[in-house]
Amino acid sequence: MILRALSFLFLLSVVNAYYLNEEECLNYTVYPVQYEIKLFVSKSYYDCQIKITVIANALNVNMIELDANDLKINFDSLKVYKENVDIVNRPRPYEYDRMNGKLYIYLREPLIRYSKESPQYYIVMMFRKYLTEETEGIFLVPYKDVSGKIKYSVTTRLSPNRAKYFFPCFDNPRFEAVFKFIVHMMTPLIVEESVNNSLTITKEQRNQTMQDQSVIVYYTPSPQVKLNEIGLHISDFSNIKKPSKNTKDTLVVWAPEHELENYRCVLNYGVDMINLIHKYAAVDRPLANGPINIIAVPSEKIDGYEVGSWNLLTYRANRLACREEYSSIKQINRMNFELAQQLCRIWLGNPGETERTRWREEWFKEGVATYLAYYFLAQYNQQHRHTTYNQEIAKYGLEMKIKAMETDWHRSTPALASFNNTLAIEIPSRYKNLVTMKTASILWMVENWIGSEKFHQALVKYINSRRGKFISLKDFYEKLDFETVECELQFFNGSTASRVLSSWFHHPGYPVVDVQVLRDNSDDRVLLNQRYFSFIDRRRESDYLIPISYIMQHNQNCYNCYQPRFTIGRQTYSFRENLNGGWIILNRNSSGYYRVNYDVYTWKLIAKTLNEDHNSIDELTRAQLVNDAFALYVSGDINQDLAMEILDYLHNERSPAVWESAIAGFELLKTENARCNMTKILYEEWKEFMRRKIAPIYNIISDNIEQDGTSRLFRSNVVSLACALQYEPCRQRLQYTYEQYRRNGMRIDPDIREACYRMLLKTNGYFGVHPMNAFEKDDRLMVEQRLREENRFLMKLPKGEPRPMPIRSTTTSTTLPPLPIVDKQTAGSTSISPTVFIIVITALIALMNR
Ligand SMILES: *[C@@H]1O[C@H](CO)[C@@H](O)[C@H](O)[C@H]1NC(C)=O
Ligand SMILES: *[C@@H]1O[C@H](CO)[C@@H](O)[C@H](O)[C@H]1NC(C)=O
Ligand SMILES: *[C@@H]1O[C@H](CO)[C@@H](O)[C@H](O)[C@H]1NC(C)=O
Ligand SMILES: *[C@@H]1O[C@H](CO)[C@@H](O)[C@H](O)[C@H]1NC(C)=O
Ligand SMILES: *[C@@H]1O[C@H](CO)[C@@H](O)[C@H](O)[C@H]1NC(C)=O
Ligand SMILES: *[C@@H]1O[C@H](CO)[C@@H](O)[C@H](O)[C@H]1NC(C)=O
Ligand SMILES: *[C@@H]1O[C@H](CO)[C@@H](O)[C@H](O)[C@H]1NC(C)=O
Repeated sequence: MILRALSFLFLLSVVNAYYLNEEECLNYTVYPVQYEIKLFVSKSYYDCQIKITVIANALNVNMIELDANDLKINFDSLKVYKENVDIVNRPRPYEYDRMNGKLYIYLREPLIRYSKESPQYYIVMMFRKYLTEETEGIFLVPYKDVSGKIKYSVTTRLSPNRAKYFFPCFDNPRFEAVFKFIVHMMTPLIVEESVNNSLTITKEQRNQTMQDQSVIVYYTPSPQVKLNEIGLHISDFSNIKKPSKNTKDTLVVWAPEHELENYRCVLNYGVDMINLIHKYAAVDRPLANGPINIIAVPSEKIDGYEVGSWNLLTYRANRLACREEYSSIKQINRMNFELAQQLCRIWLGNPGETERTRWREEWFKEGVATYLAYYFLAQYNQQHRHTTYNQEIAKYGLEMKIKAMETDWHRSTPALASFNNTLAIEIPSRYKNLVTMKTASILWMVENWIGSEKFHQALVKYINSRRGKFISLKDFYEKLDFETVECELQFFNGSTASRVLSSWFHHPGYPVVDVQVLRDNSDDRVLLNQRYFSFIDRRRESDYLIPISYIMQHNQNCYNCYQPRFTIGRQTYSFRENLNGGWIILNRNSSGYYRVNYDVYTWKLIAKTLNEDHNSIDELTRAQLVNDAFALYVSGDINQDLAMEILDYLHNERSPAVWESAIAGFELLKTENARCNMTKILYEEWKEFMRRKIAPIYNIISDNIEQDGTSRLFRSNVVSLACALQYEPCRQRLQYTYEQYRRNGMRIDPDIREACYRMLLKTNGYFGVHPMNAFEKDDRLMVEQRLREENRFLMKLPKGEPRPMPIRSTTTSTTLPPLPIVDKQTAGSTSISPTVFIIVITALIALMNR
């Protein structure tokens, strides 16, 4: 009893600290401290006895408002105890607004505001909940046992705001409470359905077998958790488990026994990831207190991991299973990425840790988790596929950037900082990629400034130092500025270090840097200007502090080239560099989160080099040039001839990274209302152009049999595009593949399944008589969605006039326009001495090392 009272007080103080001063919660007058939930689970419903311990945070609270949807409450059992006395107002005890899911309980006397002496209050009631496959929040999921008999499992998915379908609760996503579960699996259930396992977020404390052979399982009280962080799973799944190498973490995967082998690879992969995380963290500290359970639930309702879950991860079965004959490389990559991301979330802070780390800005946590997921994936690939590590993470960097930039240009797209302390579960799904991928891209940019090793050493030290505390941007910024105050005038020209970083977090979108080279023999002058990038709006001035890195055609070893070392702000920035008649290319290795446009002369020099010897420019820089060329054409910055001249060399391109970037660039042509004034005729012209460019690479790799991940993905992407462009050999091949499948039941290579479905949906839409499995359905739904979007775009497109000029041939000789003349008088706009960016970073390291 003493122990309990103590823990109760402790909890209250925690609740006070976290919530009572949060503005948005002030109008809540009653707070839950503990939920005790006793479930009697039968075949398709459960009865529940619930006891909620609450405290009052106001005077004169005469009414308690609970959220409860779709629950059959036994109102006779409804009581509010003050110590041992029921204080419900008997003449008018309650009101249940079923429509809005609100339960109002009226009290005979006001609750006493919480203090050390105040009495304890408990809300007690019983209710019944009927379950079907369609019920929200908590539902049945059918699965087959080894004999093919259908059985049902009970599964939860409580975010956002679905806990009130599970039990009556105070449905505020920020409230945290202790949960105590007791699960009684009733006899008929065990006999008829042989469902015998239940899992929830805490460990089993003890169990008890009753006379009727039914079992009661008591679970230990949970730590303080939010409603969306809890879960329950009941089934007769079996499990496989594997411990991590150096800490006490164990990964357990649950599935029907006869299917367990399909999950062996996710188990091994997950444990490898955990080992990588431990190696990175370099401290002997488990990710979670107790095992991490992954449950493969065959339900399409479960799309993605629940971001707040840490030891009970339910996910759609087909997105966890490896079936060599059905899993496409994209599906495997997705599975690997998502699990890595979830494990990183857990590592960065979870309710089950001994000392809990909290992030005030959950968008920031999401971004860091995403970035680390790619970082660990790169290491994993290196271990398993013998590719060089640096290359790999850089390629993921490109991937993050492409994904982020896809959404990050609309006028309505918010700045990252405006998510402020929005909870991760409340970030709208259309901004998921923005929050995860943009933050990750910016971190990738930082990593490039300071070098991989230093960056990660610093990051891990910072996170380790904040264990059991808050991590917030403000804390981060403050420490940063404190460290750099003496450098302010000298290096940042009056601005602080945090301003440099926050310029990326606090401004929406991303910039395009305009490069103009005023050429004058050996005294060339380079002018840089930045604007917000947009496909449809007029350019507005932007004010990012941009780290600039560049390479030059005739001076490979220049001092400034090695590392990004200065930033530009709002003004035109100019510097001298002897280009010796060659090009300059910004955004080396494509690591900066911006696009670059050049003057026409420079673009043509770049195009010439690409055509003559594209390998002299490294792969990732090429990838950026190609993507920028598409984007700048679409945004009306460069004309079609110039864009095609730059892209003309693509028939010689063999790099998977560049092609990935080109394919994403080609997708940009479908941007609606873009300033390039796209028409049907123009679009056809582009398709024809791309068909010619992709043909050579298609012919080389479509029959190649390499099975490593990079080769499979490359093949899959190239085949998809070639077929979407109706490249005849590709079309024939798909037709053949499909006929083989339809007539002879030969399975379709999963990597080209998407392309195949696309063809079918574009032609007769007949998918044959074989029922689709979950892997195939996933692909089909995705293709259908993409085709819908494409059709919508095409429908709106005006027909347009044919261009007067003939279509360009592939073998162009590059002609250069006359040199721009340097006007020495007017060219000299404000010339700022290079701001040495490295200093910010040194400070950053100093901060993180503290
Ligand atoms: C609390 O305040 C918010 C905004 O003012 C309002 O939307 C919400 O309904 C209030 N909640 C309660 C319980 O009064
Ligand atoms: C009950 O407890 C025993 C011993 O701790 C354990 O072996 C058994 O698996 C438990 N049963 C259930 C249904 O959890
Ligand atoms: C539950 O039932 C399955 C078969 O239905 C059996 O394989 C498994 O061992 C059982 N688990 C427990 C804990 O009794
Ligand atoms: C974030 O929220 C806090 C408190 O809710 C507020 O003081 C601050 O101004 C907000 N910051 C931004 C960038 O919106
Ligand atoms: C950038 O590119 C250069 C040249 O290809 C390469 O040597 C270097 O490792 C790359 N840097 C990073 C961080 O990937
Ligand atoms: C698109 O059309 C507008 C209005 O007719 C015109 O001003 C603009 O120059 C066109 N853009 C391009 C890239 O042709
Ligand atoms: C510092 O910034 C101010 C305005 O922000 C500018 O006028 C001045 O030229 C800058 N000084 C240097 C040394 O860059």
